[in-house]
Order: sequence, then structure tokens, then C-alpha cells
Amino acid sequence: MKTASRNRRFSLYLTALAAACAGLGYAWWTVHHAWRDGYGDGDMSWHTQADPRALSGGDLTVFHEGFMPFGQSPNNLPWQYEAIFEAGDGVFDKSFIPGDGKTASQIKTDGGTRRRGLGPLFNASGCAECHFRDGRVERPYVGGGEMMGMFLRLSVPDGKGGWKPPDGYHHQLHDRALAGVPAEGKGHIDWEEVPGVFPDGETWSLRKPNFRISDLAHGPLPTDTVIEARSAPPVHGGGLLEAIADGTLLAHAERQKNDPDGVSGKPNYVTDPETGQRVLGRFSLKANETSLRAQAAGAAFNDMGITSVIHRKEGCLPHQKECAAAKNGGTPEEPELTAKQLDDLTIYLQLLAVPARRNLDDPVAQRGEELFKQARCNACHVDTVQTGDTHPIERLRRQTIHPYSDLLLHDMGPGLTGRPDGEATAQEWRTPPLWGIGLTQRSNHHTNFLHDQRARNLQEAILWHDGEATVAKGRFIGMKKEDRAALIRFLESL
Ligand code: HEC
Ligand code: HEC
Repeated sequence: MKTASRNRRFSLYLTALAAACAGLGYAWWTVHHAWRDGYGDGDMSWHTQADPRALSGGDLTVFHEGFMPFGQSPNNLPWQYEAIFEAGDGVFDKSFIPGDGKTASQIKTDGGTRRRGLGPLFNASGCAECHFRDGRVERPYVGGGEMMGMFLRLSVPDGKGGWKPPDGYHHQLHDRALAGVPAEGKGHIDWEEVPGVFPDGETWSLRKPNFRISDLAHGPLPTDTVIEARSAPPVHGGGLLEAIADGTLLAHAERQKNDPDGVSGKPNYVTDPETGQRVLGRFSLKANETSLRAQAAGAAFNDMGITSVIHRKEGCLPHQKECAAAKNGGTPEEPELTAKQLDDLTIYLQLLAVPARRNLDDPVAQRGEELFKQARCNACHVDTVQTGDTHPIERLRRQTIHPYSDLLLHDMGPGLTGRPDGEATAQEWRTPPLWGIGLTQRSNHHTNFLHDQRARNLQEAILWHDGEATVAKGRFIGMKKEDRAALIRFLESL
């Protein structure tokens, strides 16, 4: 009797143990695979049923038709990534406030949600102030006012063939500062209209920016100062761009060596702020940043005065005494942006989805696509690229994407001159991805384009092309009016 019941109990234990093991194993398997792959356990029917041409961002394409097309998480993320994405979104969207002279641990607040340490010198108090809805904010200073979403970069020749910031200033003019700290100066743009005419008689006018700086806090600038304005580009799809293998970008450059139109893209090489190594650049307007992590930490530091594990000390120059005396929100040991916040922000940028292409059946847009190819715009705005297979987030690997960019530098002629950056010359700019460009109006309520938003619409953006893009632009100018309109319609479908 006794033995029988002991046996029964024993087998019950055994079953329970087996069930527990199976349960744990299943949980481990799901978490491990979902985490590694970056896919949840929902279905991807949106994608399998869609026309493949619509999938601009491969599996990171979203079919969101609302007012925030650039700020979406991909469909079917596992919950762990979704949680990090949300945390990173919080860091990106919300403003930072000035420091209180203490670190997060000193006042025992949650290092994940604390957003202290703005300034002392800065251009904006949050990422989204410039990257409005993850796109580009319109600068409101056409009629005056503060420079929003953009900043001026200043350089003078260093006498050794290179460039340095003008004495007394940073290479980026900080037009805002905490109370009691003088801002470095205020940037202004005076516009000058430059008219032109198509062969068919239709006229255009481009507005050329002339920069002026007032309220200079540390003395006048040398007369040979080169001033350039950079406005915030949209940030969607960054992870996919990060996942493209270096070799793929170098192959674009190799192929362009024989380009019949004189297109000759070149890679930029920059220093990785964490390893000190010379690496390929691919982010920012002159491909002057190597990774989203370096970009995010650099933006926090240069644009907002927020320190991080990559930039541990505030950037006050020796003579900027008020800046040095201002209260911070951290210390070099415990920077203002916590290590976790930087990680969250990076993963947020890596996973930001890409809006699907629209109006695929519109015959005018289809004709526009043909004309885009005939004009050889796609020599630089490369339509289809495969991501590599080494990105830490597996979901970003081996994706077929349509960024319309080679991420290389191109000489765009003297009209678009700026300042040199890394190995980029003053006239060289990175081909900006065009995916999602047709949604700029819906998301950001304007259609200003190019590195300083000088173009007021897509046609003006094309007409500013010069240098290596002269031949392609010439083909656009030579088109019939309805063909020009069709090409624009195609761009609007991206
Ligand atoms: C003052 C406006 C401003 C603020 C604030 C700002 N950015 Fe930017 N952002 C820019 C500009 C301008 C560029 C281009 C910079 C360049 O070319 O050097 C840029 C570039 C980028 C890029 C590269 C996009 C691409 O296409 O390569 C990313 C990513 C980015 N910023 C993320 C951030 C994050 C994250 C924050 C907050 C920590 C932030 N930015 C804060 C203006 C801003
Ligand atoms: C030689 C390479 C090259 C060719 C060819 C080229 N582009 Fe560009 N494109 C660029 C670069 C570089 C920029 C950014 C210039 C700047 O910001 O000052 C740009 C910017 C743009 C923009 C604005 C994007 C934005 O986000 O602000 C549009 C639109 C555009 N190009 C469309 C075209 C069309 C249409 C053609 C063909 C008629 C074309 N491009 C041919 C390199 C090229």
C-alpha cells in the first residue's frame, strides 16, 4: 500500500518536474529566439500580402498612414525590444531640463527617466525639437525668430591645410544657453532670390542663403570664417543604413569610377569616438558619423550640452567662465545621459521603421520612375540595396531595402558649398536617402529640402544640383513640363 502511494507521488513529482522543465525550456526558446531575431510571435501578413515594391524598408516597412510616418516601430517586435523602443522614444521626444548640481544616484531618482543636464550651451533642449516627429522641423525664421532645427558650423583655415574653429568659439555656434551663461551668438539667414528659366519658358526662382551672425559673445569672427548651416535630417530607417556592409558602399564607389555622367562618389572616413579607430562614415549630412550610437551621443553633447559615457565632460572653452560655473546634471563618472539611456536611444534609432511606398499603380508616378532612371538620378540615389549579415540586431540583416542613396559623398558644385568635414570637402555632401520624402508635408507641414532647407519644394531641390549631378539635372531641365511633373509625382510616392 505504502510503496504504491510513494510510487504514485514520485511519478507525480516527475511529471511536474518534466512539465516545469518543458515550460522553462519553451520560455527560454521563445525569449532567446524572439530577442535574437527581433521578431515577435505575431504574423507578418502585411508584408507577405504587400506588393514587394512597397516594402521600402524590407521587414521594417510600416503601412502607417497617420501624421507620424517617420516615428513608428516595426510591426511584430518582440516585447523586450518594444519596451526598449518606448524607453528610447521617451529620451528622444521629451525635453531635457537644466541640471540641479546633482547626479541621478545622489538624489536617488530613476536614471532611466531623469532628463537633467541641459546646456550650459545648447541649440535645442530635445532631439525631437529638431527632428520633429522623427522628421525635419521647419525653421520658423523666414520672418525672423530663433533658428530652430538647425545650427551654424564655423571654420577657419588652420594654416596647415586643415580647418579649425575660429578663436573663442566652438565649431558649432551655440545660440542658446542657460540663464546667466552668454549664448555664443545668434545665426540669421538673409535670402536672395536667383531666377532661372526652363527651355520651355517656364521660370523658377531659387533662394540662396547669406549667413549673418549677431550677438557674438566672444569677439568678432575672423573674416575668413566659413559659415555653413545644417538642418536636421529625418531619422527613420537608420538601423537599416547602419546594417549595410562597408563593402557594399565601397562597391558603389568602385562602380562609379566608370560613370558616364561623371558621378564619382567617395566614402568619408572619420574617427570612431569610442575606439579611436578610423572608420567609414555614413550618418549625418557629410557622412561624418560612423554609427547611430556615436551620432546620438554626439548630438546630445554638441546640440544639447548633455554628457554621456562617450563625451564625459561639458564642452565649455577655457574663457567661458559662466559656462564652467553653471550647474550640471552629472559628473564625468556619472554622466547626464545614463549608459542605459544611450543604449535605449541607440536601439530606438536602429529600429525606427520606414514608411511604405504609395501610389504604385498611378501611371504618372510609374512614368516618373522611368524618367528618374533615364535621367540617371539613381547613379547616386541608388534604389535597391541589400543589408549585410553582421548587424547585432538580426532583424536588420539581409533586408532588401529601397533607400535611394549610396551614402557616399558627391561634389555638388559651388552653389552648395559648406565647410569641410572629415575627408569631405566643402562642396561634398552625402546623398540623402529619399525614402519617405513624399510624406514630409504630412509629417512636418512643409516641403523644405537640402542640407539647410534652402529648397522650398522638390523641384527646387533638384535645380540646386550641380557638380557631379550637373548632367542628371540637365536632363531634368530638358524634360517636357508634364515629364518634370511626373518625376516629382514619383518622388512624392516614396
Ligand atoms: C539643434 C538641432 C538638433 C538636435 C537637438 C538634435 N539633432 Fe540630430 N541632427 C541635426 C543635424 C543638423 C544633423 C546633421 C548633422 C551633421 O551633418 O553633422 C543631425 C543628424 C542626426 C542623425 C543622422 C541622420 C542621418 O540621416 O544620417 C541622427 C540619427 C540624429 N541626428 C539623431 C539625434 C538624436 C538622437 C538627438 C538627441 C540626442 C539629436 N539628433 C538632436 C540636428 C539636431
Ligand atoms: C551626383 C549624385 C547625385 C545625383 C546624380 C542626383 N542627386 Fe539628388 N542629391 C545628391 C546630394 C549629395 C544631395 C544633398 C545635397 C545637399 O543637401 O546640399 C541630393 C539631394 C536631393 C534631394 C533632396 C533630399 C533631401 O532630403 O533634402 C532630392 C529630392 C534629390 N536629390 C533628387 C534628385 C533627382 C530627382 C535627381 C535626378 C534628376 C538627383 N537627385 C540626382 C546627390 C545626387
